[in-house]
Amino acid sequence: MAYELDLKDRRALITGAGQGVGRGIAHGFAAAGAEVIVNDLRTERAQEVVDEIRDAGGAATASAFDVTDYAAVTAAVEALGGVDILINNAGNAGVQGFAGLGRFVETTPADWEPFLRVNLYGVLHCAHAVLPGMIAKGWGRIVTISSDSARTGEANMAAYAAAKAGAAGLTRSLAVETGRYGITVNTIALGTMRTEATEGLWSDPENPMAKSLLKRYAVRRPGLPEDAAALAVFLAGPQASWITGQTYPVNGGISFAQ
Ligand SMILES: NC(=O)c1ccc[n+]([C@@H]2O[C@H](COP(=O)([O-])OP(=O)(O)OC[C@H]3O[C@@H](n4cnc5c(N)ncnc54)[C@H](O)[C@@H]3O)[C@@H](O)[C@H]2O)c1
Repeated sequence: MAYELDLKDRRALITGAGQGVGRGIAHGFAAAGAEVIVNDLRTERAQEVVDEIRDAGGAATASAFDVTDYAAVTAAVEALGGVDILINNAGNAGVQGFAGLGRFVETTPADWEPFLRVNLYGVLHCAHAVLPGMIAKGWGRIVTISSDSARTGEANMAAYAAAKAGAAGLTRSLAVETGRYGITVNTIALGTMRTEATEGLWSDPENPMAKSLLKRYAVRRPGLPEDAAALAVFLAGPQASWITGQTYPVNGGISFAQ
């Protein structure tokens, strides 16, 4: 049996891939031979990543749209003519700084809404748009990027954790509904990563929050985009066809740290 992660002839749409984790995943899929559709809210970011992938010899095109806008998502997927692989990465963990939203009782529905819109509705919209094509083809892969906070809970980030947990619940339901069509649906739950969104946390090695976080990881470093990419590429590949409905932690072994 060959264990090459060869995704040639597969087209992968990666949302929020203009920077950070999504950018790393886009590079991972391109390196595995997939044609990558780089989505981001920000056109210039998506185009930059497309240029990087092409410069490295890969195949990529940009598709800028807002995952929270259902009409825009469906129009974009229709214009693409369908995709084989969807990576729901667009999220807004770092939008309000690493201090998060604040204590739940002190927040308002208006504070929760942007977190639910991107991390839950964005996933609903994209999955709904791509699934009819996948079902017709009899093959598809959906991987959603979630967070450890969906499992453990996270102070000051209740709406974010709730949205990410909702997306993991959606994963399980879609897996039940679509497995018979050759489609798998999984979630990757990340620990704290080093990306543009969290650079303020990691850039100062003396930052007390960064120091305390590192002690909680058995592998004493923050996660990197390529750590997420490695598992996403595997889950999208031919060898992962009997793995569905699961949530896989990629978190440096937070439960094993001493
Ligand atoms: N950074 C972490 O420590 C961490 C930890 C756990 C989970 N995650 C999850 O990983 C994913 C990526 O995180 P990141 O740190 O790379 O984020 P990031 O903020 O660095 O990048 C997110 C990208 O998504 C784009 N985006 C935001 N809203 C969008 C929308 N509505 N439509 C399309 N694009 C949109 C942004 O423009 C940006 O380029 C997110 O789902 C996040 O919740 C991150």
